[in-house]
Amino acid sequence: TKEFVNCYRIEGAPDKLNEALLRMAASFAVSDAKMREIIDRFHQSMRDGLNGDEAGMPMIPSFIDRRPTGNEQGKFLSLDLGGTNLRVCQVTLLGKSDFHMVQQKFTIPAEAKERTLFDWIAQCVSIFVEEHDVEPNPGEYSINCGFTFSFPINQTGLAEGNLIMWNKGFLVPNSVGRDVVRLTQDAFLRKHLRVRIVAILNDTVGALMTSCYSNPDSQLGIIFGTGTNACYWERLSNIGKWAGPKEGEMVINTEWGAFDNAIEVLPYTMHDNKLNRKSPNHGLQVFEKMISGMYLGEVARNALLYLVDQRLLFDGRSSPIFNKSYAFDTAYMSEIVSDDSPDLTEVRKVFEQTLEIPSPTLLDCKVAKAVCDMIGTRAMRLSAASMAAVLLWRPEMLKGTVTVGIDGSMYQFYPSFDKALYDNCRPFLGDDFVDNKLKLRLAKDGSGVGAAIIAAVASKHLQ
Ligand code: GLC
Repeated sequence: TKEFVNCYRIEGAPDKLNEALLRMAASFAVSDAKMREIIDRFHQSMRDGLNGDEAGMPMIPSFIDRRPTGNEQGKFLSLDLGGTNLRVCQVTLLGKSDFHMVQQKFTIPAEAKERTLFDWIAQCVSIFVEEHDVEPNPGEYSINCGFTFSFPINQTGLAEGNLIMWNKGFLVPNSVGRDVVRLTQDAFLRKHLRVRIVAILNDTVGALMTSCYSNPDSQLGIIFGTGTNACYWERLSNIGKWAGPKEGEMVINTEWGAFDNAIEVLPYTMHDNKLNRKSPNHGLQVFEKMISGMYLGEVARNALLYLVDQRLLFDGRSSPIFNKSYAFDTAYMSEIVSDDSPDLTEVRKVFEQTLEIPSPTLLDCKVAKAVCDMIGTRAMRLSAASMAAVLLWRPEMLKGTVTVGIDGSMYQFYPSFDKALYDNCRPFLGDDFVDNKLKLRLAKDGSGVGAAIIAAVASKHLQ
């Protein structure tokens, strides 16, 4: 921790500035001891959740109890409702772990996030089906569709689940507590769409299924994106709240974004607190708010403005743009931390041109880069702690190779995210495991393909 803090000292900067920077670094630092404490608390929350006490983590059974074989075949429509986009895909599973996919991406407008979501989805599906001439399979009346839904639902079957809550900026009225398959299916009916949703799954489950389709040793599916979450294969005998048969395995959606909402172990700072207080889901998804793309930029903006207010940054001046909540996109952080040029050209560009901060100096740019780096580093350490926690939960899994299917913008685009995951879980999983057995793999388009795989399995059930 000391090393971590000291590396933010800026040569030649005024003492007062360095002191403030080091104090800030200390507040964002996560020591190995802290990581271990987080891992222990994760295990406690997982145990509680599996036994029905969901205050720590929901631990939701997915109704998926069979590993894909890679031989699944057929043509399916899949929908992937993420935090930012809806992707509509036609997936052809070719068997032998191979597939073909045609997809169209629709950016979700604010109006849909706040009001008309299900009708808007139906509209997009209708456009896609028409443009790509999607027809039901011969002998079937409707097109089979798998729906990847990236919000927590209490599943009551493979194709039914009641929405627990919205997050990531969504707030569609009259939907919490209701079956989202039904809500979507009704919107399809209103448009006379011959599309039948045969399965609903979380995006982490999509990533895991896609990963399993080509790597049978896949144990975890993780999203490090707009939000963050993971699922894994659990023994049914270990799921106390599961009333069905106890033999075999089932995928559990952990909803780890809700880990430690009571903030008992997480290294929370005043900047996190400010974000949480102002957010529509105040007090919820606390862990997610420290890690994921939707929020990191805002934590950084809060921290930067704290320095501005003390006249330690940008000569005490902000800008109307930078004053707006969520104006500092996490993508800017990626650009900033990866700028290694001596005069920090990219950093300056972001602040001067995009955010209209008047004449940032080189020292300002150095400070801003340091702050972004502290917050990004913390996110990567916490991400590694949560991944290590789930891996350690089933120690018998760690004997052979373990593939983890990961998707999401943070994993794909935040500099060194993949390397940091490996490095930061070394103290807990051991060098041998990390070097020789752990395989982190991008489950690209996991949601689309995963939904098709589950739709394949589900439509067999339904026949
Ligand atoms: C949020 C949702 C969760 C989803 C994750 C990643 O945490 O609650 O269901 O998997 O975001 O998209």
